[in-house]
Amino acid sequence: MKIKIVDNNEKYYNELYIIHNNVMPEQDKMTKNNFYDEFNRDTRKYFVAINEYNKVVGYVGVLDTNTDYNIMGIAVKKECFRQGVATKLIRHLKDTAKDNNVLTISLEVDETNIPAINFYKKMGFVLTNIRKKYYKNNDALIMWYYL
Ligand SMILES: CC(C)(COP(=O)(O)OP(=O)(O)OC[C@H]1O[C@@H](n2cnc3c(N)ncnc32)[C@H](O)[C@@H]1OP(=O)(O)O)[C@@H](O)C(=O)NCCC(=O)NCCS
Repeated sequence: MKIKIVDNNEKYYNELYIIHNNVMPEQDKMTKNNFYDEFNRDTRKYFVAINEYNKVVGYVGVLDTNTDYNIMGIAVKKECFRQGVATKLIRHLKDTAKDNNVLTISLEVDETNIPAINFYKKMGFVLTNIRKKYYKNNDALIMWYYL
């Protein structure tokens, strides 16, 4: 699939919100208002994946602390899974981090989210610790990528 990655823009919110709530684990689902608020926070950076037909197919968002990008969410449209969309989003994130002298990319992922854990491992993230019962019933794996 041909993908371009663009900066976030208000015109994508609705489609991104639908993708997010369709594919995210239960605990990460949001109301539309919360979703908009999250995107608009000053400390956030969101990137959007667009396919060759100009359709939104995914996003990644981070909390930017200047030295670290903490991934707040990454989601791909279900029909587009396993076609390299998330890989392109993370590659773009790594390039942006390098350009801004950011040192690490970090994340928390539900221990039961095997697709995401596999994906992050493939992208070079390493498991550093476990946060017990970070989610309602499950632990969070804390993973880091060192630039
Ligand atoms: C995790 C997610 C973002 C991956 O997106 P994607 O665009 O399908 O990922 P890619 O096509 O770039 O996959 C790259 C590699 O990740 C791994 N991977 C991705 N999905 C996988 C799955 N379901 N099972 C096992 N490994 C998987 C594979 O190694 C894959 O390479 P391969 O297809 O050559 O085997 C997507 O499944 C998603 O949106 N999930 C729901 C939201 C979510 O859980 N987000 C993370 C929590 S914030």
